[in-house]
Amino acid sequence: MLVSATEMLKKAKEGHYAVGQFNINNLEWTKSILQTAQELNSPVILGVSEGAGKYMTGFNTVAAMVKAMDQDLGITVPVALHLDHGTYDGCYKCIKAGFTSIMFDGSHYAIEENIEKTKELVAVAHAMGMSIEAEVGSIGGEEDGVVGMGECADPAECKQIADLGVDMLAAGIGNIHGKYPANWAGLSFETLDAIQQKTGVMPLVLHGGTGIPEDMIKKAISLGVAKINVNTECQLSFQEATRKYIEAGKDLEGKGFDPRKLLAPGCEAIKATVKTKMELFGSVGKA
Ligand code: 13P
Repeated sequence: MLVSATEMLKKAKEGHYAVGQFNINNLEWTKSILQTAQELNSPVILGVSEGAGKYMTGFNTVAAMVKAMDQDLGITVPVALHLDHGTYDGCYKCIKAGFTSIMFDGSHYAIEENIEKTKELVAVAHAMGMSIEAEVGSIGGEEDGVVGMGECADPAECKQIADLGVDMLAAGIGNIHGKYPANWAGLSFETLDAIQQKTGVMPLVLHGGTGIPEDMIKKAISLGVAKINVNTECQLSFQEATRKYIEAGKDLEGKGFDPRKLLAPGCEAIKATVKTKMELFGSVGKA
């Protein structure tokens, strides 16, 4: 069931668990994530970066595929189709394409411009029944060409953006996209605590979910994080399983070259990763 992320995140914040956002790249990714959410009776958010949207030939294709797949698979759990780290133009494209949720990442603008653009997009998204995520303070690392320095957000600025009526707020707290370096300082819970004190019931978003230790994930949820984004970890699981299949020469046996066979171990690996995350985030059975 395609819905905005508003209700599922409100419930998650109240119930002290988090809904996973899993980024999609193609049909196999989408199918694996949707089937796992349904099996575990968990709400889920499908994240689409602008790069992945382009790869899949455009946001219209993505929206049509997700809607049709949701229907054909008989998915009854709440599913939000969400633009990840959207630009101003990208947000309008996804609004037109029929996404149910957008993220406007105005974190690289001065706070005044971030506020102005976010405010405009909140009004448009809400008029369309969509949810909207905003960002303050940048997430470190690189995702699809979006590079961030990883500075911690200013809690006062978080409050300014939260007050615009966004449905969820991403705030940099030392988190990084991609693998964490060995010398990573960890999440700044002091910053997270200060942000939650200022923003109250606002569901907070933790980007860079790949590789964050379990205890940190649990602590972040206890301090108001209600949405956690995972991208790289599904890519690594898929890659590892596919590599094993080919290195074992399975693609050379019988019809092992058939894409439905060749991609199957990778899909199973994505499902296993999504399941582990949903269990850790506490969203199982919460649909
Ligand atoms: P990872 O790739 O580190 O899991 O981050 C995902 C993310 O934050 C998407 O916005």
